[in-house]
Amino acid sequence: MPTDDAAFFHQGLKSAPKDSFKNVKYAVFGCGHPDWVKTFYAVPSAIDEMLEAGGGERLVARGKGDVTKAELFDDFDEWASHFLDKLGDGRRERVEAKLSVSVDTNKRKNLLQHEFLSSATVVSNTIISKGDRDVKRHLVFRIPKEVTYRTGDYFAILPTSPLVTVRRALIRFKLHADDLLTLSGDGATLPLDIPLSAHDLFAGFVELSHPVSFKQVQSLSGEGASQADQDQLRAFFDKGTFDSEIAAKHISLLDLLEMLPTIRMDLGDFIKALPPIRMRQVSDLSTF
Ligand SMILES: Cc1cc2nc3c(=O)[nH]c(=O)nc-3n(C[C@H](O)[C@H](O)[C@H](O)COP(=O)(O)O)c2cc1C
Repeated sequence: MPTDDAAFFHQGLKSAPKDSFKNVKYAVFGCGHPDWVKTFYAVPSAIDEMLEAGGGERLVARGKGDVTKAELFDDFDEWASHFLDKLGDGRRERVEAKLSVSVDTNKRKNLLQHEFLSSATVVSNTIISKGDRDVKRHLVFRIPKEVTYRTGDYFAILPTSPLVTVRRALIRFKLHADDLLTLSGDGATLPLDIPLSAHDLFAGFVELSHPVSFKQVQSLSGEGASQADQDQLRAFFDKGTFDSEIAAKHISLLDLLEMLPTIRMDLGDFIKALPPIRMRQVSDLSTF
């Protein structure tokens, strides 16, 4: 049987009136798996035969791609080469046109207004503490030649958020990591008007763990939320409760939205409420 996406085409060929394919030039390359012993290449060979029977002109012999063979792509390339020769008129050039890629290594740091940062290479990363708790590491970086420093300087690192935190935000907003978001409007430190995966946006541009402010809590609406969540949210509108239950515990906006799962927040409002991701600074550099 043809696959679902080929069924309409296959049925069309099957029920086509006699001589339907006169003046039709065609070529078939079909993939198959030899485990289907009795129907190996059954669909592509049927298509090839039906086109011929209807008066079509076969440009090249049917190509065969055995999906169990390592040479599958080479077999296709060889067949495609014969096929393109038959087509003439510059098709080969179009198929073989180069793919060009532009790489922008500065976009994130420029948007976040950290233009002075440059890339360094971690040469070694060794755990120097004992046990699993309070792990300490000795990191050695190779920094670009033009970057100079003295003992006592700060080392600034532009991080990405931990995957677990990013995942929590994705789950709370019912997003998949590879959903593409395009932000437009106001957001000086955000990548505007370019599609970016939800993962990359949450990991690279916003601070997901920053403590939520009183004003942000007050801006949340309980509309449509469960009674329990509405009551809890209202309790946090009281400054005393906010101070003891939210501020003192360093609760972030994401923590709060997880605590109150039925409270609705617009994704744009959430992203805008988050501060730009912060640089982490490491002091007391030692030279060697
Ligand atoms: C449900 C199923 C049925 C298949 N039946 C046949 C078959 O009858 N004959 C054959 O040669 N290959 C058969 N194959 C193998 C496919 O032709 C092969 O996996 C091919 O690469 C599928 O292309 P796709 O990966 O683009 O879907 C079958 C594969 C599946 C998953």
